[in-house]
Amino acid sequence: MNQIDLRDLRFGEGAHLLVKRALAGIAVGEEIVVRGQAPDLEVHLEAWARSEGHRVRASGENSGLYLRRGAAESGRWHGAERAGDADPRKPEGVVEKPPRRWGLAARGATVEAGAPEFSFQLAEKSQVWAEESVRLYAQAVAAQWDPNTAIPWDAEFELPQEIEDTVVQLMTYLIENEAAALIVPSRFVAQLHPHFREVMQLLAIQAADEARHVEVFTRRALLKTDRLGLSTVGGQASLKTLVDEPDFAIASFLLSVMGEGTFLTLLRFLERPRAGARHASHDTIGSKRRGAARRFWSCTLEGIGKERSRIARQVGPVGAPPT
Ligand SMILES: [Fe+2]
Repeated sequence: MNQIDLRDLRFGEGAHLLVKRALAGIAVGEEIVVRGQAPDLEVHLEAWARSEGHRVRASGENSGLYLRRGAAESGRWHGAERAGDADPRKPEGVVEKPPRRWGLAARGATVEAGAPEFSFQLAEKSQVWAEESVRLYAQAVAAQWDPNTAIPWDAEFELPQEIEDTVVQLMTYLIENEAAALIVPSRFVAQLHPHFREVMQLLAIQAADEARHVEVFTRRALLKTDRLGLSTVGGQASLKTLVDEPDFAIASFLLSVMGEGTFLTLLRFLERPRAGARHASHDTIGSKRRGAARRFWSCTLEGIGKERSRIARQVGPVGAPPT
């Protein structure tokens, strides 16, 4: 029979962990002998065994305590299920319809039966998953930058007042666009089943990127003034359709490809008259994001195909100047 000697180790000092480990080595219904010199060992062992579903059997003097392994612990995991696999490349890694009862469990974890159901609205692989999200998230993490050091904020420059005013107005326009760009991924990430971990991470880092863009444009606008420009009804109405868009793929497509494309055009316009900030952020904000976004969404364009006419209405004629 298996034996364990706790010597003078008390239950409050971790003796129960040693007992638990010893029990793990025997089958349900089998016994181990527990010995030890700690005061009240029998009382503490009995209380612990009761709470864990095991039983202590009376024994003779000095022959130790007989502990029988109960079925409660193994029974607890009856009905548990594996939540896919941590590796998204495995065939069953990312499942088509992860149950809402998997909740916040890490993909690949064993989930105890009876967990509460979460009301994730985006819970189907066909709605949200793209293989590219794995690589894009890693790329986004590696491309993080610090606005404080990436942009020479203290660089001397002087612009004609009307040019500076125009820059401030453009920055004001860009800030509200960036706010929309931050809200869209944030709104979807709150609805997304965490089973799609890499997409969740990608959306989160996109939101963080947009927060940084808001910071940079605000900081540039306020370099020479303490007052921002105008916010128009047309601009806000246009952005509202983006914020209100209920379809994940379409909202992200409009935001990442069309929106960022417009931004790149505007940033180039700003760069041309040497508008002062000499945006070191230009490449980071524009071309990299747009390129990444194009690659990402090329994976889902097929699915979007049927929505093409709707997208066309929202985007307007190809080649139309940004308004
Ligand atoms: Fe942005």
